[in-house]
Amino acid sequence: MSDLIAAHGGTLVQRQLTGALRRAALEDAVYYKKIPLDNWSLSDLELIGVGAFSPLTGFVGKKDWESILERMRLVSGEIWTIPVTLPITEEQAQQIALHERVALTGQDGAVYGIMEVEEVFRYDKTWEAQAVFGTTDEAHPGVQRLLSRPPYYAAGPIWLVNRVEPAEFATYYLDPVHTRIAFSARGWRTVVGFQTRNPVHRAHEYIQKSALEIVDGLFLNPLVGETKPDDIPATVRMKSYQVLLKHYYPVNRVFFAVYPGAMRYAGPREAVFHALVRKNYGCTHFIVGRDHAGVGNYYATYDAQKIFSHFSPQELGITPLFFENSFYCHKCDGMASEKTCPHRAEDRYILSGTNVRAILRAGDKPSTKFTRPEVAEVLVQGLAEESTSVPTSSAR
Ligand code: ADX
Repeated sequence: MSDLIAAHGGTLVQRQLTGALRRAALEDAVYYKKIPLDNWSLSDLELIGVGAFSPLTGFVGKKDWESILERMRLVSGEIWTIPVTLPITEEQAQQIALHERVALTGQDGAVYGIMEVEEVFRYDKTWEAQAVFGTTDEAHPGVQRLLSRPPYYAAGPIWLVNRVEPAEFATYYLDPVHTRIAFSARGWRTVVGFQTRNPVHRAHEYIQKSALEIVDGLFLNPLVGETKPDDIPATVRMKSYQVLLKHYYPVNRVFFAVYPGAMRYAGPREAVFHALVRKNYGCTHFIVGRDHAGVGNYYATYDAQKIFSHFSPQELGITPLFFENSFYCHKCDGMASEKTCPHRAEDRYILSGTNVRAILRAGDKPSTKFTRPEVAEVLVQGLAEESTSVPTSSAR
């Protein structure tokens, strides 16, 4: 594994306890105060534990939080654009003593992590919203989420003692150590990571395959943690990725595993964060297309690319690959982008995410110019099953 890219900060963090150490920690934890985590924080805990958020070893404290907001770096100087924090209530804040160990529990009551509380502080939500999301508008899903969280942060190193059991698709849940071994076993020296919270449509496929032309392997790494209610659910998307890979990708050039993190919708800052996380999974390159991690009209089309110019290639470690808005062009008779297509807007087949979700939810299939027919089939069916089993959530 020595020729693989180094994790962010130099070392892949490992905070997962196993065997006798884990058993001992769980026995001690019986006497600790319990802090129940929501699914969002639980996924953050796991991702810190397995090193996906290297160099973080715990939930960040006040100095790092301020430094991330002010200069997109940890106090140590490492690039870090999104604060990974643990919100707690005022009551919990009053009960916890400094240096006390607490048990981090899931909704099921099980202990998933232990944290040594080094700091508890009240945080300024407006400042965090403005710095991270570039807006304080409550209609922004990330801002909305931040405003709904309790007012204090508890910070300190964690140890992961239990893992969330995926209900489905367990074989695709791999930690950075596993994906690194997989890339190495395939002899890949260069691997491009692809983040998505959507089904893979033809524009996604086009930029992935364009990137794959210049690297050894593609790491298809869809986000399956918490997303906003009207995004297509991960269980439906998973089937669409499987069918797409089966029909349209060379099996020896693609590696598919999920990223169990929560979606922040922080646009530019999240693009950098996504890149650093994929570096920890072993990627050397990372795709940033148009409006990466964007939502509504909060970010300009290429803001998520421009932000990378704040950092030197050496300190980023991972190389971002930028792609312009891509689409099917009737005149080109194929996929193209604003960079390669000379034709007019009327010649291009473009659907917004909102439009395509509306088409699919109405039970119709988008054009094969937009999405592969096998993918459309799976999505229409998956969403129909979903709407009969789950109450429909409000669309934003
Ligand atoms: S994201 O929130 O995970 O970024 P999405 O799944 O839409 O959303 O995008 C995944 C990646 O593909 C991002 O890098 C995004 O910029 C890029 N992308 C999506 N659609 C296009 C497109 N039509 N043209 C170019 N890049 C695109």
